[in-house]
Amino acid sequence: MSKKSVLVTGAGGFIGFHLVNYLKDRGYWVRGVDIKDPEYQASSADEFRLLDLREMDDCREAVQGMDEVYNLAADMGGIGYISGAHASITFNNTMISAQMLKAAYDAKVQRFLFSSSACVYPQYLQDVPTVVPLKEDDAFPADPEPGYGLEKLYTEKLCEYFTQDYGFQTRLVRFHNVYGPLGTWDGGKEKAPAAICRKVAMAKSGDAIEVWGDGKQTRSFMYIDDCVEGIYRIMRSDYSGPLNLGTDELVDVSGLVDIIAGISGKTIHKRFNTNRPQGVRGRNSDNNRLREVLGWEPSIHLSQGLIPTYAWISGEVKARAEREAGIEHIPTIAAQ
Ligand code: NAD
Ligand code: GDD
Repeated sequence: MSKKSVLVTGAGGFIGFHLVNYLKDRGYWVRGVDIKDPEYQASSADEFRLLDLREMDDCREAVQGMDEVYNLAADMGGIGYISGAHASITFNNTMISAQMLKAAYDAKVQRFLFSSSACVYPQYLQDVPTVVPLKEDDAFPADPEPGYGLEKLYTEKLCEYFTQDYGFQTRLVRFHNVYGPLGTWDGGKEKAPAAICRKVAMAKSGDAIEVWGDGKQTRSFMYIDDCVEGIYRIMRSDYSGPLNLGTDELVDVSGLVDIIAGISGKTIHKRFNTNRPQGVRGRNSDNNRLREVLGWEPSIHLSQGLIPTYAWISGEVKARAEREAGIEHIPTIAAQ
């Protein structure tokens, strides 16, 4: 039997990069597609193509000959990024999602997985830190995160219509804040776990770091290994409705800082800044349906997953500092 051929879009990004490794380990032939190369390491994909999936011709090229599609490409980032560029994010992601879905259907792809987000959930259900965990059916009546969350919710429905009207097999995964090694850690798109790892790595013991908000806002965070395992299990399942993929381990942002400081071995003080973006007040995943469908749920605790994450980010911070120091040394050496 020949190997199954699968496409991972967004393979130059965080989750896509790890998913390509996961699928390669399971014997798939993998095509990775992104608008840019992976930032930190070369992709293990059998083939990696640079394409702009806002263009229909590029979507058609990407899906050609593929049995299954994991559509992870999106213009995305942490709350600072997604709340600051509604027009471009909504436009870019609308073009990518709708055209990838149509191109995959036209190419007779067998299964299409869409990476949605916890940002589809109504803001009125997330206005207290002691949030009730969010169930899949809570998404309506809708009041999603403006721009980014609205597009995710709309594309979920579009996938559902392709299933209802054309029998096209789609899978809808609502990720809750994913972290781990090789995730964006600076430049403005980083999410809270990576941003705080970076700030702690750059601080000396006894320093204060800036923490957005008052630290009482809550989230659940999912380690990347659980994320790719869950994506794969959902793709293999027969369930085509939306599914949460996250942990239900609720932590406040101040607590997140404490865990990272503990891992670093440094004494870290917090300087809260309520003028910075904060997003919803509380967000947690209800995993009942995930458990029913898969008999599985993410299980890696935050305090475990942050150990390799902090190690990788502090290594990157150190390497960057050495590079910058090296660059400064070059003229001095040349001048000698
Ligand atoms: P990421 O930014 O690391 O990866 C997304 C990739 O998509 C990037 O490499 C980017 O270059 C690529 N891309 C953007 N525009 C493109 C275009 N026009 N053509 C081709 N490629 C393009 O983000 P991620 O964390 O890996 O997220 C993957 C998916 O999961 C996204 O759809 C995102 O919305 C969703 N998601 C992620 C999280 C999370 O916590 N990481 C949470 C909710 C949803
Ligand atoms: N990014 C960031 N950087 N957030 C910080 C920082 C910091 O230095 N310090 C504290 N925070 C706080 C934010 O104010 C927010 O309240 C919380 O940490 C979480 O921020 P993010 O991780 O940036 O985003 P989010 O959880 O609000 O939303 C993210 O997760 C969604 C899925 O659950 C985003 O990445 C969305 O794009 C994603 O869909």
